[in-house]
Amino acid sequence: MPNTILVGAQWGDEGKGKIIDVLTEDADIVVRTQGGNNAGHTVFVGKQKYVVHLIPSGILRKGKLCVIGNGVVIDPIGLVREIEGLKALRVKVDGGLLISETAHVVLPYHRELDTQREILKGKNRIGTTKRGIGPAYSDKAARTGLRVIDLLNETRFEQVLRKRIKENNEILKALGGKTLSFKKVHETNREAGDYLRPYVANTVVRLHEASRKGARILFEGAQGTFLDIDHGTYPYVTSSNTTSGGACTGSGMPPNRMDRVVGVMKAYTTRVGEGPLPTEDSDIADLLHGMGREFGATTGRARRCGWFDAVATRHASMVNGIDEFAVTNLDGLDTLERIKVCVGYRSGSKQYDYIPNDIEVFSECKPIYTEFPGWRVSTEGARTWRQLPVNARRYLKAIADFACAELSIASVGPAREQTIML
Ligand code: IMP
Repeated sequence: MPNTILVGAQWGDEGKGKIIDVLTEDADIVVRTQGGNNAGHTVFVGKQKYVVHLIPSGILRKGKLCVIGNGVVIDPIGLVREIEGLKALRVKVDGGLLISETAHVVLPYHRELDTQREILKGKNRIGTTKRGIGPAYSDKAARTGLRVIDLLNETRFEQVLRKRIKENNEILKALGGKTLSFKKVHETNREAGDYLRPYVANTVVRLHEASRKGARILFEGAQGTFLDIDHGTYPYVTSSNTTSGGACTGSGMPPNRMDRVVGVMKAYTTRVGEGPLPTEDSDIADLLHGMGREFGATTGRARRCGWFDAVATRHASMVNGIDEFAVTNLDGLDTLERIKVCVGYRSGSKQYDYIPNDIEVFSECKPIYTEFPGWRVSTEGARTWRQLPVNARRYLKAIADFACAELSIASVGPAREQTIML
């Protein structure tokens, strides 16, 4: 495997964690390039469940180097907790993790601002994870952020943090939120900074050195295409570039060093938080929730569920340059008699075969469906393409064709071995 970018082709939670874990087998380095601990990748190794938020799930495989790139926003205290959690499960972290010096830091005022802004928005809220992601990226763009390299510099961190707390306390007061004590924020984050110091590096230089020596690098995306700050359903998006371009800016690896883009999509659609989801359907939501599926790895929220949206995934294929698709959660559809796929949208007298940019128009869109016969047997035990029921094969082929890319992986359960490579 040369350099591969993996992206979510829907609204996040596509099951990327498992596919990343499978592709990591053929990689030397795994890099996370955007987002923060709003993400949560769930990976099962044997019966043990691991949930990682900031650290690439490659950490679960021996001998892989995991990198948190410059495009990520890092909550230092959360990251320490995550490292400690992995160590408690006897995962080897030391020697296998690098943190970018230039990644921005998420501080308690970011979380508090995130919460207050959501409250003030009322029914127009985004439904954020309240992890401070939006405010941290706002500070980065406004050039008022603190980076990991600043966190490690005692004098600079103290001076800048003092100013930032003063200013943000004024804003928080105006918003009706609770103000923060400089002393406490300073102490706890400095402590976390000291803990993280051995992992911090110039990751851009390290990645290029490794690449020159022939290392195979996997760039793992967090969230999904329609949560992208530019290409998603703005304003109901996250604050980073979740599409393939984000892998370049978020790591310092240029586009001409990237060899392929793999898109991960579920065999149906889910979304957490607010914003349009044209194929949302209470029957499929009840079915999946009833099976104990589709609850968020980070917040535990029940995800909104709908039929597969081929218009959206075709768009994802286009903006990411997806070469291959991995389809996950096929087994979620095992009991259905008929399966719907959205192939267009209708709004008033207008039809769309693309996602309209005007969020009010998109919110009004109703899906135009085509139907497929279900297979009504369990696919969980299938290990090869031929072991899948013929209707399941037809369905998979059809949704990959609609989305205009090759189907390369089908996943029929959370375990590593429940993966069919085509
Ligand atoms: P934020 O990233 O916490 O600001 O949340 C913005 C939007 O992105 C909300 O709708 C969240 O539910 C959604 N979001 C953020 N991270 C994830 C994720 O990892 N999976 C799915 N949705 C996410």
